[in-house]
Amino acid sequence: MCGIVGYIGTKKASPILINGLLRLEYRGYDSAGISTIEKNEISIMKNKGRVKNLYNLPGIDDLEGTIGIAHTRWATHGKPSKENSHPHMDNSKTFSVVHNGIIENYNELREFLQNKGYTFYSQTDTEVIPNLIHYYYTNDSKNDSLKLLRAVKNACTDLKGSFALEIICRESPDNMIVVRKDSPLVIGKGDGENYISSDIPAILSFTREFYLLNDLEFVVLSRNDAKFYDKNLNPIDKKVQTIEWNAASAEKDGFDDYMLKEIYEQPSAIRETIGAKLNEGSKCEFEELNFSKEYLKGLNKIYLIACGTAMHAGLAGKVMIEHLCKIPTEVDIASEFRYRNPLIDDKTLCIFISQSGETADTIAALKLSKANGAKTLAISNVIGSSITREADYSIYTHAGPEIAVASTKAYTSQVMLLAILAIYFAETLELSLNEVTDLKKDILELPKKIDETLKCSDKIKSFANKIYQEKDVFFLGRGIDETVAREASLKLKEISYIHSDSYPAGELKHGPIALIENGITVISIMTDPKLVEKTVSNIQEVITRGAKTLVVTNQDVDDNMFDYVIHIPKTNTFISPILSILPLQLLSYYVSKEKGLDVDKPRNLAKSVTVE
Ligand code: G6P
Repeated sequence: MCGIVGYIGTKKASPILINGLLRLEYRGYDSAGISTIEKNEISIMKNKGRVKNLYNLPGIDDLEGTIGIAHTRWATHGKPSKENSHPHMDNSKTFSVVHNGIIENYNELREFLQNKGYTFYSQTDTEVIPNLIHYYYTNDSKNDSLKLLRAVKNACTDLKGSFALEIICRESPDNMIVVRKDSPLVIGKGDGENYISSDIPAILSFTREFYLLNDLEFVVLSRNDAKFYDKNLNPIDKKVQTIEWNAASAEKDGFDDYMLKEIYEQPSAIRETIGAKLNEGSKCEFEELNFSKEYLKGLNKIYLIACGTAMHAGLAGKVMIEHLCKIPTEVDIASEFRYRNPLIDDKTLCIFISQSGETADTIAALKLSKANGAKTLAISNVIGSSITREADYSIYTHAGPEIAVASTKAYTSQVMLLAILAIYFAETLELSLNEVTDLKKDILELPKKIDETLKCSDKIKSFANKIYQEKDVFFLGRGIDETVAREASLKLKEISYIHSDSYPAGELKHGPIALIENGITVISIMTDPKLVEKTVSNIQEVITRGAKTLVVTNQDVDDNMFDYVIHIPKTNTFISPILSILPLQLLSYYVSKEKGLDVDKPRNLAKSVTVE
């Protein structure tokens, strides 16, 4: 994961770099550092801890360099420490490098370099890179303008694994080289300056014009120019793309935390995701898709593949696709799918769901599916992200930038888009048309029902105050509500560090009920009228054993049976996760606040997991 930022222009680089890192802290935050060129010497300032600690480093205010690179780390190789922080230099202090990704063959490369007399000072995989560049640079007899680029390219040819790299060289103070492979990196084009970042929001306040890089494309940046090369160093043309998001939408807008802001952005995220794709009177349209009835009829299976929260959105997608389209649908965790020899062929459609579009396991699962002949469709929130560039087709949630590590608006937008996709498939197949008509009506009413649901905030806050010191919490549901139970449980773990588990309510009696004891909290979701009575019986079983109960429901239940009831608006069961998850997102948020934790940056987690 890790976040990287770079700048080359006419302004002092250091404040721009630190500012960019602060916005990328969601990608990792155990150490940070910057490197600039100061009077033809490389300067490096780095330390363990949060980015803001960089402000305390002696001499940081005196940096004058107008070219620099920066990094915020999520440790993979070597514990968080000053030595292991980036940037890293080669032994001769000629090159400075920041890296996001993992070099899988670093031991082998380290040994090779040690045999050539190089010394290593950190435990990182990254430190081989500047030294390898130095090795190729000093062994290149040609002294032309491409010498630095050639050295970087030769070093990259030796690297196995994933990398987004920024490289500066004290002998080339007017150039920076960047390259990426399986790790994110974008270039922002300014006026007489260029910015580099792991993602777009971090530099959105400086520019809206971006170059998006494909794997193994090299860039030589100067103040006024960006020259692009393919993996054989042939020059290539790259078009600038204008990004519509504005910087303000990536800021907190007066909310205490990004997560809370993002929870309250869900009405607009859902509205934007519906966009013009769905209208009551006409068929669903996806400009990007052209699936025929014959193709869909001929499918043997649909796979929905993702990680974390995105996988939970997939679980809701399965319920909708199987019911409305009658196509067998499996949900798979990307890190399992990719190592399982899945049974896929040209009659399989593999759908990949990823907010960031950069999750390493999801990308690998996509590549595997393509190699096995399946058609691939990406669902992402980030235009131009890696999965969208790899997939045969891409469609987008329009949730806007999601900064908090715990995903909220991306999840509901993914469920929304999957519902619209299921409708598109059903209409193309001419199946379930009456149900589809009703579902469309309910979808169009969702944004205002989300607003209404979010009014439960005070009630949830007081419940959070009652349970924040608990050690275990259980979540129950049946059918589509069970998929929400899983997401609610993940949310609570992620940001409150309370152990929680979710179970299909009917499965409780087959083991987990042994854990129910006096005073334990059990939270249930009930939105499916066909299953409500069954779930009520299961809740009764835990009440008998002394559980404290919270119920989120849109059904008419006897409120007196439970300790707390949150009533949410009625809607079609298929899209009920978009409403029923909201009180539970708020619950995790307020529990985390009660415990005084950092909601947006929970321990050990990162927003974008670009390592496997
Ligand atoms: C990380 C994040 C989760 C996210 C998962 C998948 O684990 O902490 O919130 O659901 O990655 O991310 P993606 O960008 O692929 O949706």
